[in-house]
Amino acid sequence: MNRPDGSESRFFTVPLELLEPGGLLPCDIWLPRRDGRPVRYRHARLAFDERHRARLEAAGVGAVLIAFDDAEAWNRHLEGRLGKIVSRTDLSVDQRAAVLVESARGIVREILERPEVATARPRLDVLAGALADFTREPGGFAAIVRLFEHDYYTYTHSVHVAVYATALAAACGYGSPAQLRSVARAAAMHDAGKVGIPPEVLNKPGPLDDAEWQLMRRHPQDGRRVLEQAGWTDALMLEAVELHHERLDGSGYPHGLAAERIPLVPRIMMIADAYDAMTSDRAYMKALSGVRALEILHADERERYGQDLVATFIRTLFDPREIARRH
Ligand SMILES: [Fe+2]
Ligand SMILES: [Fe+2]
Repeated sequence: MNRPDGSESRFFTVPLELLEPGGLLPCDIWLPRRDGRPVRYRHARLAFDERHRARLEAAGVGAVLIAFDDAEAWNRHLEGRLGKIVSRTDLSVDQRAAVLVESARGIVREILERPEVATARPRLDVLAGALADFTREPGGFAAIVRLFEHDYYTYTHSVHVAVYATALAAACGYGSPAQLRSVARAAAMHDAGKVGIPPEVLNKPGPLDDAEWQLMRRHPQDGRRVLEQAGWTDALMLEAVELHHERLDGSGYPHGLAAERIPLVPRIMMIADAYDAMTSDRAYMKALSGVRALEILHADERERYGQDLVATFIRTLFDPREIARRH
């Protein structure tokens, strides 16, 4: 039975291709109707096989509907298949990017909230693997970036930084696919230390006072500590989290390290992080255009970010084939 208020606004559309035959449905599946009141097609936990799919195709159904109330069950279902989905060539690059970004937001938000749960590491591994693979695929990086929003939340920012950092690392020819996965993992967690900062400080519209600034400056080391206490041992990740606010001219924090003491991955992260921060709407500043943000990184603040790496980042953004060429 349809609920009396079953109007289409309570549903989101899913391409039929994402409804894989051969398993149990993770949630109720609905079909659109011309009167705008969807009809339930099949209940959760019923089998869905090739015959069902063929019948829908024969009826001209290209997409099904899922209730927003079931979004979590559906997203979890997709997440479990993420590695497979991002390599499915029967899906368009944009369809795969949409699944990847949606999964990434859910995974990163939940892990930043609770990095100690046992499922955190395997979930981040799945995401990092999917990101590392998809970013190197033709059109993959650009398709993901098109889905970015300018709203600034720590978890969306973290997803963006993971994507930019993975793409930049790939464009530098950095390491193996396994190492790219490490970069993705590290970048997704780079602001793990912000959980301890009260939202009124994080979202303060004006400049921070001394005490607030002290608190803010602690987040790279706090992040390392939070992750260590939660049982994370990936040395590359821990180091990159701790060093992502260092700057090559020694003006960064927490250590004020000189350029030669800042390894490549934290350098990559610095650029990805600064670029995303500048191109997002924050409480104290409107988003800058991508071009303006790159001018700042490449010219105004050239001593801080390292021009060679920024130049590679610019090429990566404007000609993502750069990523594929180096790998
Ligand atoms: Fe940060
Ligand atoms: Fe950040």
